[in-house]
Amino acid sequence: MKLSLIPRPMVTDIFEEEESGILSISENFAITPAKKLEKYVLLIQRDILDILNMDVHIKKDDSTENLFININPAEFIEAQSYRIVIDENGIELCGADETGLFYAIQTFKQLLLIYGKNLQYMEIEDEPGYSWRGLHIDVSRHFFPISFLKKIVNMMALLKLNRFHWHLTDDQGWRIESFKFPNLHETGSCRNEEGQQKAQYYTQAEIRDFVKYAEERFIEVVPEIDMPGHTQAMLASYPHLSCSGEVVQVWDKWGVSEQVLCLGKESTYQFVEELLEEVIPLFSSPYFHIGGDECPETEWIKCPHCQKKIEELGLDRFRSLQHHFTHFLGKILKKHSKQLIGWDEIIEGELPDNAIVMSWRGDAIDGALFAMKQNRPVIFTPNTSYYFDWKQTILADEQGAFGVTSLKRVFDYKPLKMLLQKTDIISEQLEELIMGIQANVWTEYIHNEKELEYMLYPRLLAIAEQAWQKGNNEDFEEFHKRVNTFKNMVMDFYEVNYCKKV
Ligand code: ACM
Ligand code: ZN
Repeated sequence: MKLSLIPRPMVTDIFEEEESGILSISENFAITPAKKLEKYVLLIQRDILDILNMDVHIKKDDSTENLFININPAEFIEAQSYRIVIDENGIELCGADETGLFYAIQTFKQLLLIYGKNLQYMEIEDEPGYSWRGLHIDVSRHFFPISFLKKIVNMMALLKLNRFHWHLTDDQGWRIESFKFPNLHETGSCRNEEGQQKAQYYTQAEIRDFVKYAEERFIEVVPEIDMPGHTQAMLASYPHLSCSGEVVQVWDKWGVSEQVLCLGKESTYQFVEELLEEVIPLFSSPYFHIGGDECPETEWIKCPHCQKKIEELGLDRFRSLQHHFTHFLGKILKKHSKQLIGWDEIIEGELPDNAIVMSWRGDAIDGALFAMKQNRPVIFTPNTSYYFDWKQTILADEQGAFGVTSLKRVFDYKPLKMLLQKTDIISEQLEELIMGIQANVWTEYIHNEKELEYMLYPRLLAIAEQAWQKGNNEDFEEFHKRVNTFKNMVMDFYEVNYCKKV
């Protein structure tokens, strides 16, 4: 029997014949924790109460049926792996470490949601595939409250996704409270839309709370401050940061503004350094995204400061100013022991030695290969397959913009296979540098929570599946059956909106 789990377990899923037995969870069931794992016991207790409406208790020596949880690194080869055994002795959830135990609990939770209290005897062994299993949400173009982001994080946890990439700044809105530079949130978070000016940003306390909430679910929150382009909201707050110094408004159009940071003035570098010193400590992830995408040169070309800077640095073109800036950011992040992530436009020239490239243009392969030739890791976010602001069907009234990234298209994207078609770098080397994959949701045309959920699901299930399976699952039909079960038994249970047409 194949279980209807998403993602499908990676290593083995051995199930005994149906006749071999069924274990029924009941009110006199008891959970037995080992060592200091009480918080996980509470997690399971709450899941069983929520899903089965049953109040199971903690350790009673004479109970005949039990659920044992444990962490035992010696039994596993890979970090973050886990095992579930259900048999006549009860249920055992065992992790190689806390992350592994958490993943065991997520799989167990899916079993409860899909199969209820009667569980067939089974054994599952499982471990993660790609180390980066991500979702990116743009909260600049449209703002979404922390309570809603937590609902998304809950679903990410259940799907064993582990990176929440938070696109916090752009031309159309700055969303981080800053004590050093308060205009950023006071002015930069207000967009003049339909006659309304609303400050919409996250306080630093809210950011810390969200980071902790995600961390408890083994998800790292990776912030992005997009620079040196996509910065008109910053410039509206502090006009001296632009080449002309002219006062501009937070942008109320979609697209890419030509108003960008002046990379000729020393004051820009000072400002950015002080800002990063304030923002970096809000986040616990070892990664920090500095954007770097789509930066027009029009203002730099006209700017005496930028012209002088390229002469001083002996650069042959304006684009190289961005390269210089990327290395500057790389040094600041290194001081904080952070790795720099940038969109693939940062591949100009030699990359900083702590850089990771997030490749998004087209099928992402050219950008990826450029980085890989410099031995830098790559996260794949191809816009032609993984952009969830794109439509998910070809129907005329389908929500979304640009092209179509159907569930099947998301499922079918295979980075390793595509790289091998374009390079003679050997498979093992490429595999080491494929950090993972990520879905990106840009919100220009996504106005509210219901619409955002619709764009996310069920496509996010395909990202979860291939991220866990390292792109090795070829069987879309079988996956699609699991998606349908997941929609009915999981998404409906948690009142999550999704596209019902796919
Ligand atoms: C991007 O879509 N500009 C990264
Ligand atoms: Zn300038």
